[in-house]
Amino acid sequence: MNSSERVSEIVPERVSERVSEIVPERIAVRDNVALMPGYHSPQLDVAVRLNTNESPAPPPEGWAEALVGVLAGIDWHRYPDRAARELRVAVAEHEGVAPEQVFAANGSNEALQCLMLAFGGPGRLALAFEPTYALHSHISVLAATEVMSGERRDDFSLDPDYAAAMVSRHRPAVTFLCSPNNPTGMVEPQSLLERLLADVAALPGLLLVDEAYGQFASRTAVRLVDESRPLVVARTYSKTWSMAAARLGYLVAPSWVVAELEKVALPYHLDAFKQAAGRLALAYEREMKDRMAVLVAERERIAAGLDQLPVRHWASEANFILFRPCSADGEAVWAGLAARSVLVRNCSSWPRLAGCLRVTVGAPAENDAFLSALSEVLI
Ligand SMILES: Cc1ncc(COP(=O)(O)O)c(C=O)c1O
Repeated sequence: MNSSERVSEIVPERVSERVSEIVPERIAVRDNVALMPGYHSPQLDVAVRLNTNESPAPPPEGWAEALVGVLAGIDWHRYPDRAARELRVAVAEHEGVAPEQVFAANGSNEALQCLMLAFGGPGRLALAFEPTYALHSHISVLAATEVMSGERRDDFSLDPDYAAAMVSRHRPAVTFLCSPNNPTGMVEPQSLLERLLADVAALPGLLLVDEAYGQFASRTAVRLVDESRPLVVARTYSKTWSMAAARLGYLVAPSWVVAELEKVALPYHLDAFKQAAGRLALAYEREMKDRMAVLVAERERIAAGLDQLPVRHWASEANFILFRPCSADGEAVWAGLAARSVLVRNCSSWPRLAGCLRVTVGAPAENDAFLSALSEVLI
């Protein structure tokens, strides 16, 4: 057998062709999985990548150097601390809660998946208000939870009376909010959070506030978390901490919620290196805040640039801006930007977001490249 024949042996399409010759019938996937489109975030090989809301800057050098020291000290032959105790103590101190009120996971997405495995499931319902972060519905479906989609107003704000009525009518086990909301960048008013929290408590249910971009915003729901309220706040190291590659996120929640999440998380799901990386990062809070201040200033500079162009855009408190070209077709504008080596998120075919694009705030030179490419495309 020559090497190309050997490679062809493991090419998946060939394997599946052969298997289908042998096996007449295949087991069908679960019904709700069969209906899922899957999660897609297309990537292109471009010079300026402003499509996934990552930080344009790496974590501080001091953090990376300290991490190298940690690497050598890890007992690689042993399982990691299953309770991630030191990480949780550090996160708890950072957030001003008790360690028993912190649940860490491989990205906030995995934390949300654990939440839905524990509190969603067959016969239970999750409520989300669209447009919002697609993974809230996606993860709920994965956990065999029925999803009810509520609507936002045309300006993407949420009508409090309508939201409260949806909660009392559908009695969701979990109600999702995202603040700042992805993809609009808008922060939910404190009065709405407090009202929904009271309504959800009466059911009883849980209110999940996804604060993946929380540190960019003027308000946080973390201060409302206590043992008596059914409030869970999700946060991540992926955005403000510049650690998307680490896959680390956490929930701040009453300890009675965290205790249930620990039952559904796979044993030792958080590796030792990641636990150390997350704990160490918190020592660089000042550097994180400095990076964020730069991004917030850049966000406002992009917004001012968009004001000069024929686009509508929405006031954002995150590290991205949603915008809609006034007369041009969103798809064509996205393609025009990509042709100029600038990749933004194409939301133009998403429900309720016709014609919209979302740009992540990048480094100053990347933002310049975006603004000049956009003006070339539009003018
Ligand atoms: C609103 C929101 N929540 C959660 C996440 C996922 O974060 P993580 O990387 O921690 O899984 C994202 C990622 O883009 C997001 O936009």
